[in-house]
Amino acid sequence: MKNRQIVITKFGQPDVLAVRESLVPQPQIGEVLVKVAYAGVNPIDVKTRAGLGWAAAQNKDNLPWVPGYDISGEIIALGEGSDRFIIGDKVAGFIGFPLQGGGYSQYVCVPESALSFVPESVTLEAAASLPLAGQTAAQALENVALKDGERVLILAGAGGVGHIAVQIAVAAKAEVFTTCSESNLDYLATLGAHAINYQFASVSERLEDVDVLIDLIGGDAALDALKCLKDHAKVVTIPTMSAELICEKAKLLGFSATGMLVDPSPEQLDAMLYMVSIGLLKVEIQHIYPYTQVIDAHIQIETGHTRGKILLDMQC
Ligand SMILES: NC(=O)c1ccc[n+]([C@@H]2O[C@H](COP(=O)([O-])OP(=O)(O)OC[C@H]3O[C@@H](n4cnc5c(N)ncnc54)[C@H](OP(=O)(O)O)[C@@H]3O)[C@@H](O)[C@H]2O)c1
Repeated sequence: MKNRQIVITKFGQPDVLAVRESLVPQPQIGEVLVKVAYAGVNPIDVKTRAGLGWAAAQNKDNLPWVPGYDISGEIIALGEGSDRFIIGDKVAGFIGFPLQGGGYSQYVCVPESALSFVPESVTLEAAASLPLAGQTAAQALENVALKDGERVLILAGAGGVGHIAVQIAVAAKAEVFTTCSESNLDYLATLGAHAINYQFASVSERLEDVDVLIDLIGGDAALDALKCLKDHAKVVTIPTMSAELICEKAKLLGFSATGMLVDPSPEQLDAMLYMVSIGLLKVEIQHIYPYTQVIDAHIQIETGHTRGKILLDMQC
């Protein structure tokens, strides 16, 4: 049995991604072997492939390197001492974050403690969409301890993180405003948000008295959004590259502000899978690419206009 994996052969354009064949790994003590059904594709994978950010810096002497942090699939072997799952269980996980990666694989060994059981009513596609993006959304909102009735502005509500953040904020009974292009206005309205078309005018011309800003864009859009905030507002800025600048500017204006790095938590993923299973959370998947078309998947993420998530089908 062969294990096909996608590797970053060197840093560069999407065509540096290649399929490599290796042996199927054996699970060690406390690990399980997962036959991966779907791997999630995230902007960090694309940035790392391009040689940008700390995951690239840390792995520059470690190429070829297998990216990917989101997986769903089926347990097909148990290592010694692994007894949380049985063979055949459907699982999902946020694995190898941030330095190890490994999700773009047909078979991967994972510590059983890193995995969540996928309920029967949740598809493996939805399960692979949630780990990194869903937990980023949940942790950003935990960070600001959103209260009933607060006005929250989420920049980029249609993206992988944004569409989950919008739904969690709506469920928390906040008044949710979010920015998107014209093509996503209806979609975000159906999730319960007031959708603001950033192509029409800047958000600062359209909104005021905001209590909480969740910034998923950074740069000039985030600087402009600071003008919408009321005194003592809270800011969480997610894109790491501009976080220092946004936090500095926000603090100068008297707001509390923080960047963040998502922290994998299987318990939190359990809770999100449960929310999906009872219909409280809906995962949007724009497209599933066969793993052999990983280059197209990266090109799509690089457009910056993906609605919801992009997945790789690892078994086709
Ligand atoms: N710090 C961390 O731990 C962490 C974790 C996860 C993600 N991130 C970062 O957070 C960012 C968002 O991640 P993601 O997975 O949600 O990305 P994504 O899915 O690629 O985001 C795409 C979305 O961005 C929207 N968008 C593009 N330009 C916009 C603008 N000017 N204003 C408003 N919306 C805009 C698009 O909507 P339209 O098509 O409608 O324009 C699209 O739906 C990325 O930079 C990612 O690297 C950081």
